[in-house]
Amino acid sequence: MSSTIVAIAADHAGFALKGELAAVLAEQGYQSLDLGTHGPESVDYPDIAERLALALRDGRAGRGVLICGTGIGIGIAANRFPGIRAATCANATMARLARAHNDANVLSLGARVMGFEAARDCLLTFLTTPFDGGDRHQRRIDKLG
Ligand code: RB5
Repeated sequence: MSSTIVAIAADHAGFALKGELAAVLAEQGYQSLDLGTHGPESVDYPDIAERLALALRDGRAGRGVLICGTGIGIGIAANRFPGIRAATCANATMARLARAHNDANVLSLGARVMGFEAARDCLLTFLTTPFDGGDRHQRRIDKLG
């Protein structure tokens, strides 16, 4: 899915990892949209999540990657927006199943709880795993609204 633009955004806790993952996206041929934050100064993760959710809503990106300290707060915030299915993942298995079963369109990562290699594995798995489809999974996703 390298034709899809990948939006990436982080709070201050995820700022450094955002830079490293943006480099992975470029190296893998993905076009990315960096929505900040652009420095280590403290910011509020709900504001960052909103920025990315609106980018997906407006069609400026097809997938999103969010990073905060744990991946939890920014994932919770993103899931408040209609159409967003953000999955907080700590390993590639979670990222694979988030795509295959949940058709997640946002990957949420925790910079304080995982290293670069695990984050990279999550990212690449998230971007390359298709949704399994089928009545069972689609019916459940439809119930999310
Ligand atoms: C910021 O200190 C931290 O609370 C935030 O990055 C995130 O981990 C919240 O869930």
